[in-house]
Amino acid sequence: MNQEELKRITGERAAHFVEDGMVVGLGTGSTVYYTLLELARRMENEGLKIIGIPTSKATESIAQKLGIPLTNLDEHSVIDLTIDGADEVDPALNLIKGLGGALLREKIVAKNSVEEIIVVDEGKMVKKLGTRSPLPVEVSCFGHLTLVDIFKELGSRPVLRKIDNGTPFVTDSGNYVYDLHFESIDDSAWLERELNNLPGVVENGLFLGMTTRVIVAGNDGIKIIDK
Ligand code: A5P
Repeated sequence: MNQEELKRITGERAAHFVEDGMVVGLGTGSTVYYTLLELARRMENEGLKIIGIPTSKATESIAQKLGIPLTNLDEHSVIDLTIDGADEVDPALNLIKGLGGALLREKIVAKNSVEEIIVVDEGKMVKKLGTRSPLPVEVSCFGHLTLVDIFKELGSRPVLRKIDNGTPFVTDSGNYVYDLHFESIDDSAWLERELNNLPGVVENGLFLGMTTRVIVAGNDGIKIIDK
């Protein structure tokens, strides 16, 4: 199976954990895209009724085109189930997220979800976080250069994320993103606290203790890992 096929089977499988009447957190990325397609198909063919909370403007726009009704956390403060992608998953089901730039909303949605299902291909399963993916950190544009040396002191090589024309990537919330490259992250709980204590850091891409289930696709098929 090629990469796209793995994404499709995982994304679609996750959509089958959604039940009638649920408030569903709609993640961001190319794997969850297939979840959105499958949810729309189930709404059409099975009469499934759900209401979604999108984690990015990109997902909001796809969901609108597919006819998935949307709400927000002000209207529904508890989300029954969120389905999202990830960039790394460790054996304790802790994650790095945010290569798609949506980590802030994704983390707020995850925090307010009863269940968080993560959909990945097996290449994203790692023994230790930080070994395959950099750690994205969303920061205020104002004064962002003051953070660079601190990110280095924390053991990383920080890179300000840019788009093709060389200007900084700007998130849905109007912030910049630094991708922190580590050899590996030894103490993710400590690092998360350190990062979020820094004035100017809005949020970081460590998602610790938030995942309840991971759906992993590999060439041998789909594996479901529960917390
Ligand atoms: C978005 O900000 C990210 O957290 C994505 O969930 C993550 O990058 C996974 O995306 P893909 O499924 O496209 O790899």
